[in-house]
Amino acid sequence: MRILVTGGTGYIGSHTCVQLLERGDEVIIVDNLSNSKATVVDSIEKITGKRPVFYEADILDKNALDSIFAAHKPEAVIHFAGLKAVGESVSKPLEYYHNNITGTLMLLDVMRAHNCFKIVFSSSATVYGTPASVPIREDFPTGGTTNPYGTTKLYLERILSDLYVSDKRWSVVLLRYFNPIGAHESGLIGDNPNGIPNNLMPYVTRVAKGVLPELAVYGNDYPTHDGTGVRDFIHVEDLAAGHIAVLGHMEDVGVQVYNLGTGVGYSVLDLVNAFEKATGIKVPYRIAERRAGDIAECWSDPSKAQNELGWKATHTLEDMCRSAWNFEKAN
Ligand code: NAD
Ligand code: UFG
Repeated sequence: MRILVTGGTGYIGSHTCVQLLERGDEVIIVDNLSNSKATVVDSIEKITGKRPVFYEADILDKNALDSIFAAHKPEAVIHFAGLKAVGESVSKPLEYYHNNITGTLMLLDVMRAHNCFKIVFSSSATVYGTPASVPIREDFPTGGTTNPYGTTKLYLERILSDLYVSDKRWSVVLLRYFNPIGAHESGLIGDNPNGIPNNLMPYVTRVAKGVLPELAVYGNDYPTHDGTGVRDFIHVEDLAAGHIAVLGHMEDVGVQVYNLGTGVGYSVLDLVNAFEKATGIKVPYRIAERRAGDIAECWSDPSKAQNELGWKATHTLEDMCRSAWNFEKAN
């Protein structure tokens, strides 16, 4: 297939591009490099032996998108591009709504103009807000998002669903990711955020490397087995594989929603312990105040994706820790 991947040099996008190229797809990446580097294209080539087509372009730039679609005539789009820092979105709501929502509207408009009606969209478990119970199923209510980032995902799910109502040529797959961590086994691509990481795993690996002094564990008084927050950590390679599984199920699907998670929740301290065990490196930590906007527990029921797509996460927490450390060491 000819697949246009927005945000393809980013963390999840790069791992997905590797798997697309490995199975013989033609890949066209569009990324403005606001949170990634052009050298990721070299790394993708090193891993796969194939170089994806790469455009440094913004999805807000309709003329640029139009020329790219005219030149490559993609059959489907996997849409990763977006701003994703929860905390930053609270202080920069306009930037988040503009980039994520206006950017997606531009993309959809250009897709329609070029008769490309298949889209896989990167949504998030944040659309469930504070779930009434866990594990979370796709039919749980959405809404009650606690930050503008999460709200962009909620609105975009709605916009994509409305689009299908208006025109049945669209096939829309909304993928609600849980917590991707880990890196490609080669150590060539991984989670490489600019500045001080917001997310747990890149923080842990930088403490392990000695770049940051200690991890702050945000709260140990949650109603969980050890008091720290519980999340559904999923290896980024499994998450990428979920996109590949979806591509085989995109003919006349209407609008489909899938959780991509493991179905198992681990706490922050479980992850720290697993990391120490997998790498033999101590991760100094202190217990800090709860972080605003966090919830106690968030983990998925992934059975819909298993039953309908034949996809299942296979990597262990140890695999995730080892690969994340392997990437950090190499970078
Ligand atoms: P990332 O920041 O590594 O990748 C996103 C890429 O999009 C970056 O390379 C960035 O340069 C690019 N980009 C941003 N705005 C753009 C624009 N206007 N035009 C072109 N390119 C643009 O993030 P990621 O972790 O790979 O996330 C990919 C997608 O998955 C995002 O939409 C994110 O919201 C979503 N998601 C991520 C997580 C997570 O924990 N990582 C969880 C749920 C959902
Ligand atoms: N945490 C710490 N210390 C840190 C960083 C995180 O204790 O330095 C804790 C958090 O309090 C939370 C857990 O680790 O309990 C996970 O936090 P992350 O920031 O890694 O991830 P979140 O669950 O907050 O959110 C992530 C992405 C969102 C995505 C969501 C989907 O950042 O974009 O997963 O579940 F929507």
